[in-house]
Amino acid sequence: MLIKKNPNGLDRPFASEITPREVYEERRKFIARIAAGAAAGSALWEMANREAFAQGVSTQGAPVQKLAAKANPGFSTTEPQTSLRDATHYNNFYEFGLDKTDPAENAHTLRTRPWTVAIEGEVKKPLRLDIDSLTKLAPLEERIYRLRCVEGWSMVIPWVGYSLSNLIRAVEPTGNAKYVEFTTLADRAQMPGLRSGVLDWPYVEGLRMDEAMHPLALLTVGMYGQVLPNQNGAPVRVVVPWKYGFKSPKSIVRIRFLREQPKTAWNVSAPREYGFYSNVNPKVDHPRWSQATERRIGEDGFFKRKRDTLMFNGYNEVASLYAGMDLKRFF
Ligand code: MTE
Repeated sequence: MLIKKNPNGLDRPFASEITPREVYEERRKFIARIAAGAAAGSALWEMANREAFAQGVSTQGAPVQKLAAKANPGFSTTEPQTSLRDATHYNNFYEFGLDKTDPAENAHTLRTRPWTVAIEGEVKKPLRLDIDSLTKLAPLEERIYRLRCVEGWSMVIPWVGYSLSNLIRAVEPTGNAKYVEFTTLADRAQMPGLRSGVLDWPYVEGLRMDEAMHPLALLTVGMYGQVLPNQNGAPVRVVVPWKYGFKSPKSIVRIRFLREQPKTAWNVSAPREYGFYSNVNPKVDHPRWSQATERRIGEDGFFKRKRDTLMFNGYNEVASLYAGMDLKRFF
């Protein structure tokens, strides 16, 4: 997510807007040389850490738990997966800082146990579930989904979870439930990023009921065969693969069913830039940049051509949810 205003109220320009061309081209050549050298090192990192992860040690050295999950090829892309290193060290989780590497560095302070999620609002059977009961509510599946960020990068990640619809059915929404709101943890003692005024905390996201009920919407408790690392939204997040990544709230503590459309964090902070729907849509540009292409993290190389972004991130099966809607207006 790119922020329009920093806490001082100043716009944050792109590097290309402030650096003369000859300087940044020289800099790119320099970085490319360093990157070539680093590639050998990062391959070693990847091997060591995939192995450690498989043995139950997290990328931060803390123990992690394996999660048995059945592969769901019907809901998975066969595209090459992003490395564990990139997926866990290039993150947006503003509660732990604004730079991509901040969450990996800072999220060790997040305490993910005990953890309870309250499911309430327009439901017949409100529930408070601890993380173990939530994890066991339905059989876990591994689904390899693309994640496309509004900033123009994408990844392919093997997530572990189950369709959110399982949880929704368990609480029996009333006829008044039109939207689902997700509220995530906001605890200053654990989350240094809350001191910044970038967003009105807590981070809140929302979906329309039919979107939330779509089988692709994944209640996610793991990735790469393990429980979620803290920086990726432990212990529970949602992944909605046809929407920009910011519609995938991390570290959820409350799920509420509402009559009215919820006020979502990015929409409140910059309504002209981030709409409620936020479907991946190459035809609707962000006001400050194009959404037509994307950079796949890990395969970029400095001069590699970007990929074309696909409508609904390639998940055409959700198109019927938006039949008859003007997606320029409801962006
Ligand atoms: N959830 C919370 N609570 N806080 C955040 O800052 N960032 C969002 C989303 N969920 C965010 C969040 C954004 S902008 C993206 S792109 C994805 O998380 C990134 O998920 P990843 O780090 O696992 O790739």
